[in-house]
Amino acid sequence: MSGTTRKILVTSALPYANGSIHMGHLVEYLQTDIWVRFQKLRGHKCTYVCASDAHGTPVMIKARELGISPEDLTERISAEFVRDFAAFGVDFDNFHTTHSPENEALVIEIFEALQKVGDIYTRTIEQAYDEKEGMFLPDRFVRGTCPRCDSEDQYGDACEVCGATYSPADLIDPVSVLSGTIPVKRDSEHYFFRLSKYEKRLKAWLASARLEKSVLAKLEEWFDAGLRDWDISRDAPYFGFQIPGTDNKYFYVWLDAPVGYLASFKHLCDRRDDLDFDEYWRPGHDTEVYHFIGKDIMYFHTLFWPAVLEGAGFRTPGSVFAHGFLTVNGQKMSKSRGTFIKARTYLDNLNPSYLRYYYAAKLGPTTEDIDLNLDDFIARVNSDLIGKLVNIASRCAGFISKNFDGKLAPSLHDNALFGQVAGASGSIAEHYEKREYSKAMRMIMAFADEANRYIDDKKPWIMIKDEKTTADVQAVCTQGLNLFRSLMIYLAPVLPAVADDARAFLGERSWHWSDAETPLLGTSINKFKPLLTRVEAKQVSRMVEQSKEDANPGTGEQSVD
Ligand code: 2FM
Ligand code: ZN
Repeated sequence: MSGTTRKILVTSALPYANGSIHMGHLVEYLQTDIWVRFQKLRGHKCTYVCASDAHGTPVMIKARELGISPEDLTERISAEFVRDFAAFGVDFDNFHTTHSPENEALVIEIFEALQKVGDIYTRTIEQAYDEKEGMFLPDRFVRGTCPRCDSEDQYGDACEVCGATYSPADLIDPVSVLSGTIPVKRDSEHYFFRLSKYEKRLKAWLASARLEKSVLAKLEEWFDAGLRDWDISRDAPYFGFQIPGTDNKYFYVWLDAPVGYLASFKHLCDRRDDLDFDEYWRPGHDTEVYHFIGKDIMYFHTLFWPAVLEGAGFRTPGSVFAHGFLTVNGQKMSKSRGTFIKARTYLDNLNPSYLRYYYAAKLGPTTEDIDLNLDDFIARVNSDLIGKLVNIASRCAGFISKNFDGKLAPSLHDNALFGQVAGASGSIAEHYEKREYSKAMRMIMAFADEANRYIDDKKPWIMIKDEKTTADVQAVCTQGLNLFRSLMIYLAPVLPAVADDARAFLGERSWHWSDAETPLLGTSINKFKPLLTRVEAKQVSRMVEQSKEDANPGTGEQSVD
């Protein structure tokens, strides 16, 4: 890695402000947070922004059900997000909301820029309309019988039984989920973005964006099917930003949501002298922008979004990193099985470091799904974190404190062994950089095994009893603690809270990635306190039971990404 400091802006997808953060969401926020912390530890200037995705019909309806305004709902939920993310150590530089003045100004700026280049036009379309509620219905708000396989009670855009996709008008016996009445067809004028014009530019973008294989395959399919222009407007009533020059049209939530990345960053730049909006968002600067997303929203991020940015004169993202879905015990998260686990329910029972490590141990750079197997979770955390990692320190610390006045030896006992761990710095860093966290974790844990073998072999607890070897115990335990220290530095992006405690125990003020390559010698350490405790099976079963109680009776299964 060159010595230059990179300037990187990173985002995670903006969570909808109408529900709680759960284990599925956390795959993405933890994956991103680990990457950002890694970049910062390497000394790069890396900025991580996010926001609540505040707009759209589901938020509006949910607020109505609760008898509050959508503004109040999104504020309430955003506060919950901030609290839950912080508890999991997800360290945003800024968490904003798409319902903000910055976002409104940017959306309008983008819309007007696209108008200027002739890429916005209007067309009248026919849509399902609920006469009782007095509103047009999004596809998901119409249910009926699938026209292909006759399964009842299917969504207006796709059948969950046979996988057919269609429009609500094709459903047999459609009903509005809001009022239970039969929707009628009604005309309305909509605004469209001329995506079809961007094929060539998008292909040029994706050639430079180093997208992952499965993402590229998907894009190819979409190009083959032909790019269709994008409907970016919705009729009132709608919770969103009004389109200038209209009195009842709003920007579709999926237009203003990704603009929320810019708006959150803008909001941060306005409060920070060291960050310049244009340096990150106008073409021609030596900065990097990356979006972490789930594979279900690839279309928005690899087609609409770069095209909109390009058309409006902004820079396009350097890449889009898509991850897979989460299953729990090999199946979709399910409320009735108690595997639809909210972040809060997890936190009420378990230490967030466990989940950070478990996800890291499973995550790779592809869109492959990952499984949270609860038995494996208990076994893996106890074996790797407690049995291997923390064990190194707890086996060595006591001897240094009791017999050597808390002082580390002036030299290592086995330089070659330390050299192996230090020498892995480059490969471990490369794994993090490429989001190959599972590979990084495997390497680190293999070294933790070696460190424990070293201690098993030396047996300081026997050495200390023999006058001839007592003095060597300091060097042996200094060796053990230094192996622990380097591994802890490598793990700091994954386990920031544990790393902080470990660093304080070792009496150091701060860590940089390269500190893992130089041993800590001759200094005083502090009294060792257990850094992590074992996961008990009963903590996990209590969390599952509480998740069953959290579920509203009768909601049944729910698929989650
Ligand atoms: O799919 C979702 O959960 C959206 N709320 C993500 C938006 S990401 C970005 F485009 F804002
Ligand atoms: Zn069907």
